[in-house]
Amino acid sequence: MSDVLELQDVSVVREGRALVDQVSWSVKEGERWVILGPNGAGKTTLLHIASSYLFPSTGTATILGETLGTPGTDVFELRPRIGIAGNGMADKLPKKQTVLQTVLTAAYGMTAGWQEEYEEIDEQRARAFLDRLGMSEFVDRRFGTLSEGERKRTLIARALMTDPELLLLDEPAAGLDLGGREDLVRRLGRLARDPIAPSMVMVTHHVEEIAPGFTHVLMIRQGKILAAGPLELDLTSRNLSLCFGLPLVVEQVGDRWTAQGLPMA
Ligand SMILES: Nc1ncnc2c1ncn2[C@@H]1O[C@H](COP(=O)(O)OP(=O)(O)OP(=O)(O)O)[C@@H](O)[C@H]1O
Ligand SMILES: [Mg+2]
Repeated sequence: MSDVLELQDVSVVREGRALVDQVSWSVKEGERWVILGPNGAGKTTLLHIASSYLFPSTGTATILGETLGTPGTDVFELRPRIGIAGNGMADKLPKKQTVLQTVLTAAYGMTAGWQEEYEEIDEQRARAFLDRLGMSEFVDRRFGTLSEGERKRTLIARALMTDPELLLLDEPAAGLDLGGREDLVRRLGRLARDPIAPSMVMVTHHVEEIAPGFTHVLMIRQGKILAAGPLELDLTSRNLSLCFGLPLVVEQVGDRWTAQGLPMA
């Protein structure tokens, strides 16, 4: 199996501090990873590297076979091969565009603009992705009027629009109510199990948000890897407790996960 993502000794240093500290991690084709770690651990920074928007200070990052910062790698060719849905993205998108336009513009690598002639086939694809995310009723709604959950689902549809080989999701379920979270987990689970779906890396704070079909976990704390491997092996109470710095018990219930703090003695 080929590598979708390979980081070797990657560090990101800002103001003398390593936000990502000598991370070596690889994602192979067919794997779907969850990144867990406390606030400020470096999860979003890692996704910025994986999306080629941030270059490591030291070490090498190879994404879909292209090594960042080498003469043969053109990030402008690489970026359309990567789908990103994160919190930062929503702010960049025009609030007045419709949901359909918001998804469609991704096909043209733009965050704004409706002047282009859009191909019929692209519109059909945009509608199909929105349908898949349960957003059919909202296609003509202005993006700026959506609820948090509706916005998140739109951003995932948008990230899928370029047919990415790698899909990066930064806290896709943050801010959703229980029903919204369960709906999203179900949809992500369906995507994760789809053999032609892209490789996925999802950042989350809650093991409850790990959809069935996800295979591996990366745990980071203060920029360093604490555990990396198959969920069944590495998502343990011990690792999670070390990661978040408090005693936790993690359990697998059917094909889902839950975690809670140990009661005070
Ligand atoms: N440009 C920068 N200069 C200095 N520090 C930065 C810079 N960008 C991020 N940081 C710091 O790097 C650390 C890691 O940030 P990052 O956003 O990757 O964390 P995170 O794991 O995604 O956290 P959260 O769970 O809160 O989203 C944080 O302490 C943040 O304040
Ligand atoms: Mg973050």
